Amino acid sequence: MISIRNVSLTYPNGVRALDNVTLEIAKGDFLFLVGSSGTGKSSLLKLLYHDAIPSHGEIVVDGIRVDKLRGARVASLRRHLGVIFQDFKLLNDKTVWENVAFAMHVTGAHTREIERQVPRTLDLVGLAHKSRMFPSELSGGEQQRTAIARAIVNNPKLLLCDEPTGNLDPENTAEIMDLLLRINTKGTTVVVATHNQSVVDRMRKRVVRLEDGRIFTDEERGFYYLGLGQGQVLSG
Ligand SMILES: Nc1ncnc2c1ncn2[C@@H]1O[C@H](COP(=O)(O)OP(=O)(O)O)[C@@H](O)[C@H]1O
Ligand SMILES: [Mg+2]
Repeated sequence: MISIRNVSLTYPNGVRALDNVTLEIAKGDFLFLVGSSGTGKSSLLKLLYHDAIPSHGEIVVDGIRVDKLRGARVASLRRHLGVIFQDFKLLNDKTVWENVAFAMHVTGAHTREIERQVPRTLDLVGLAHKSRMFPSELSGGEQQRTAIARAIVNNPKLLLCDEPTGNLDPENTAEIMDLLLRINTKGTTVVVATHNQSVVDRMRKRVVRLEDGRIFTDEERGFYYLGLGQGQVLSG
């Protein structure tokens, strides 16, 4: 699904956010991206949805050379992937229904298709009963579920999540992670950048750790900290 080869990213201000990163992610995988703050997790995700362009290297997402995309093709790429963020980024003057429908509308979907797909998606995220509410009337967990509905309504093959539970309490965090897992089980490749140690340790999925813009470890069924089991603490 994703092939990142020898990718470096230096921002215009001279900060080298990623340094010679090579990473392959298979279709259907569920992967955590962990590492200290400022270590390049968000930058790596940005490269995948073409919000940043690498200074070196190549990036292929579902057969598309993302680093070479320009103009209309960028919009086309973004239709094939979903992205969610810590701060939800919902349209506050639109209802839950309208937020999700809007994501289909911009792809040129027909009204009939929208009216069929939006309720299904709201059902999946457990928000059918709140479809007429505005984001300000929802809890944080419900806002994130709305954002997830919006991200998956076009059936993306890939879902990118940047600190999706960063603003949520433990209960809502668990619900969101269960939902991401369910979406993954249905065949969508999911990549989650997170600081949340308990989430990573509970799920035992592939864990890629970045440090200083480089891949430090890459473990199948990994933990937040290399080689440390649940409940153990890393000293120092
Ligand atoms: N738009 C930007 N312009 C300049 N520097 C940036 C930009 N975005 C991030 N950085 C820098 O790149 C490094 C990696 O940031 P980021 O990818 O956001 O890390 P993380 O998500 O792991 O916290 C940091 O040093 C950060 O300050
Ligand atoms: Mg980040």
